[in-house]
Amino acid sequence: MNNINELIYEGKAKKVFSHDDSNKVIIEFKDDATAFNAMKKAKFEGKGKLNCLISSRIFELLIKNNIPTHFLELKNENTIIAKKIKVIPLEIVLRNTAYGSLCKQTTIKPGTVLPKPLIDIYLKNDELNDPLITKDRIEILNIISPKDLDLIIDLTLKINVILKSFFKNIQLELVDFKLEFGYDCKNNILLGDEISPDNCRLWDLNQKNDIIVSLDKDRFRNDLGGLIEAYSEINRRINDFI
Ligand code: TMP
Repeated sequence: MNNINELIYEGKAKKVFSHDDSNKVIIEFKDDATAFNAMKKAKFEGKGKLNCLISSRIFELLIKNNIPTHFLELKNENTIIAKKIKVIPLEIVLRNTAYGSLCKQTTIKPGTVLPKPLIDIYLKNDELNDPLITKDRIEILNIISPKDLDLIIDLTLKINVILKSFFKNIQLELVDFKLEFGYDCKNNILLGDEISPDNCRLWDLNQKNDIIVSLDKDRFRNDLGGLIEAYSEINRRINDFI
């Protein structure tokens, strides 16, 4: 990065730099990992590169399946070029199988396959600890129109169909994932952020017994160890398949 590429924003796992074209940005994936709203922090050498490569492959797959996204191209191993978007401050979580906060906040048992995909929407606000939010509250807060919210939910369900089948092909169960969307300069809604083992739960289906083997950020959240090995395995399976 040089002087022309000014740092616009630094998040927990990525840095966003300006691009010579004002409708584009350069996104650098960092090696930092955080959990529980950054109460827990660590650095894993190589994580940024792995997430960048994995996310780029997944965005290419989604684009091929007509999902509108911010992704333009992989610039180098830990950097992508993307369309500039105004991020909608909502985190859209889709759950196929119950785990994580759903099981802490309800009586649903971990590992229960849900009768249909469950969409949980959170307000993207670190100070408030990203609270679960309702459609009515979103309307009152004037974050997006009900029509655009429906569009985002519809896109999330479509993305789930594509990703679930893709991951199944490489022997991974897509348990849940978190998406973020934004508006481009023409007010189109695009999928933003990243799709990687940082924001998806992926369980290894190559297991003889019923034990859960997480190949995602739960390795860090739950102190299981082997995070880089898990992310490398996902990257390897994706590259062998595509
Ligand atoms: P949860 O079970 O903790 O609510 O997480 C559901 C999914 O969302 C899981 O795949 C991890 C992802 N996620 C994020 O990407 N960022 C977050 O801040 C949180 C809380 C979850």
